[in-house]
Amino acid sequence: MKGLILSGGNGTRLRPITYTSAKQLVPVANKPVLFRVIETIRDAGIVDIGIIVGNTAAEVMAAVGDGSKFGVKITYIQQDAPSGLAHAVKIAHPFIGDEKFVMFLGDNCIQGGISGLIKQFQDSTYNAQIVLKEVPNPRSFGVAELNPNGSILRLVEKPKEPKSNLALVGIYMFDSSIWHAIDSIKPSARGELEITDAIQALVDTGKTVFPYVHRGWWIDTGKKDDMLEANRLVLDEMGEQNNGSIDAASHIIGKVIIEDGAEVINSTIRGPAIIGKGTRIINSYVGPFTSIYHHCTIQNSEIEHSIVLEDCTINDLPGRLCDSLIGRSVVVSRSSARPSAYRLVLGDHSHVDVL
Ligand code: G1P
Repeated sequence: MKGLILSGGNGTRLRPITYTSAKQLVPVANKPVLFRVIETIRDAGIVDIGIIVGNTAAEVMAAVGDGSKFGVKITYIQQDAPSGLAHAVKIAHPFIGDEKFVMFLGDNCIQGGISGLIKQFQDSTYNAQIVLKEVPNPRSFGVAELNPNGSILRLVEKPKEPKSNLALVGIYMFDSSIWHAIDSIKPSARGELEITDAIQALVDTGKTVFPYVHRGWWIDTGKKDDMLEANRLVLDEMGEQNNGSIDAASHIIGKVIIEDGAEVINSTIRGPAIIGKGTRIINSYVGPFTSIYHHCTIQNSEIEHSIVLEDCTINDLPGRLCDSLIGRSVVVSRSSARPSAYRLVLGDHSHVDVL
C-alpha cells in the first residue's frame, strides 16, 4: 500500500503567514501539520509516500526532504494548477500504479487511531473507505447521506441544503477502481475535478465504499482560529517533559513540554504549553494552549492561547497577548521612543487588534 499527501493550495485564509510558507508547514504544538500526517501514514506501516506539491513546492521539499528523517521514502509530484483533489490523484497514477493507497489532505489534523483504520483497509476487500465526521457546518464540506443500513446513499460536495451533518474528512482509501471512476467525472461548478464525485461514481457502479464515522476530533486547519483550536486539542493530549532548564524562581504548572536547550527564567508557565528548542522565557507568563516554536525570546511579557513561530522576539508588552498566530522572526515590543505611538511594519493581509 502507498500513501499520497496533498500539499498544494495557496492558503489564502492564512495570509500573511502563507505568503512565505506553505499552510501545511504551520506548526501545531511545535510540529508542522504535514509532519503529523506523514507520521500517521508511516505508523500504518506505509513507507512509500507521494506528496502533491503546488506553488509552495520549494518550502515543502526543504522541510520534508527525502523522508529519511521520518523513516519513509518521499516522491514529489508537481501539480501545475489547483484543478481539484481528483485531478491531484489522477496525476499521481504513475507513482501509485495499481496498488491500494491512502490519500490524506496535508492540512488536516485528526485525533489518533487512524493508523489502525488504514491497516484494516489494507486487509479488506473494500474498493474504497472514507472517513466521516459529524460537523455543525456541513455546507463547507463534502457531505455523505447514508442508507438506514449504514451504507452510502449519496455524496454531495458543498451542498446548499445538506441531507446530513456527516462531512467527508480529508482521508480516503482506494484500490485501483478509483482510476476508472476519476476518468468518468467532469469538472464541478467550481471548475475542479472533485474526489467526492469520483467516490459517488464508485457507489453508482456498485463498488463497495465503506464509510467509517470518526468519533474523535478533526480540524481542517484553513484559518487562524482552526490552527489555534488544533493546537489546543493536540497540546491537551500531550504529556509533560523537561529537556531544558528551569530556574528556581520559575513555576511550571500542569502539562508543559520544555524542548532541548530551552530556558525558563523567573517565569510562570501554565500548561498545556510547549516551549521550543533554544527558546528563552524571561520574567514572563506563558498561559494555557500556547506553543512557542524554536529560538524565540519572550521577555517581560504575558502570552496565552497562541502559536508563535520560530525566531520571534516578544518584549516588554504592557498587556497580555492572546488568541494570536505570529509568523517567523517577528518582533513585538514596547518602545519608549517619542512620540509614543503604535509603529507597525506588517505584511499584506496582516491583522492587528489593539487595546
Ligand atoms: C475538500 C473536499 C471536501 C472535504 C474537505 C475536507 O474540500 O472537497 O469534500 O470535506 O476537503 O477538508 P476543499 O478543502 O477543497 O474545499
